[in-house]
Amino acid sequence: MNAISKPTMSLVDAIFQRRSVRGFLPKTVPEETMRDVFEQAQQAPSNCNTQPWYTVVASGDLRDSLRDQFIGRAMAGTPSEPDFSYVSKFEGVYRGRQVDCAAALYGEMEIARDDKAGRSRAALRNFEFFDAPHVAFLCMDRSFGATIAVDVGIYAQTLMLAMTAQGISSCAMGSLRSHPDLVRTAFGLEENIGVVFGICFGYDDSEVKANNTRTSRVSLDETVVFKDH
Ligand SMILES: Cc1cc2nc3c(=O)[nH]c(=O)nc-3n(C[C@H](O)[C@H](O)[C@H](O)COP(=O)(O)O)c2cc1C
Repeated sequence: MNAISKPTMSLVDAIFQRRSVRGFLPKTVPEETMRDVFEQAQQAPSNCNTQPWYTVVASGDLRDSLRDQFIGRAMAGTPSEPDFSYVSKFEGVYRGRQVDCAAALYGEMEIARDDKAGRSRAALRNFEFFDAPHVAFLCMDRSFGATIAVDVGIYAQTLMLAMTAQGISSCAMGSLRSHPDLVRTAFGLEENIGVVFGICFGYDDSEVKANNTRTSRVSLDETVVFKDH
């Protein structure tokens, strides 16, 4: 076991305890802990061990500045310009699961389905990073497609589980791919670096209603086939 392996809970416990948190305390993650969890994520597998992820983490004044810029764009109605394409509309069973997910979240937030203003306010919370003290932007080369984005996804879940094991809460955020130019400018990134998605993280504020949200999963029969002849 090396110096960064400090198990605080079993892997299975981390898998089941991780959940998306959408309200954080104004308490920063110590730098050493932050380095540990990112080092653990770094052990994720990837195509030919290319480790195609490139992660930038904003804290402090930079995080505040990015929040203000994202909010400014949202308030101005600036169309999003993601680097990577996203499915425009979920259909069939996927749509059903999306609706269930929204119902669970808005139910806890006491926002009715027809409450457009309430929903807009809730959407804006994304761009406030749910008050998280840190926000990571997971990037990769813009020439990479879906197969390489898989590696970034594997890295992301490794990161979120490593955080869970350290008592750090997180929320993966596709919404933060909407204005990648802001991220490139903030970090002085080359134009070829694209933002795949964000992850905000910090410590769960248990007073925030959204944090009571619990999502379910469909049964294995719906997503896995085991066959031996
Ligand atoms: C790639 C990705 C992007 C996501 N984007 C957002 C987002 O922009 N805003 C948000 O509130 N939740 C976002 N989520 C969180 C999902 O809604 C959440 O993972 C899902 O409902 C399952 O709930 P759980 O994470 O609590 O298990 C995202 C999750 C993933 C994996």
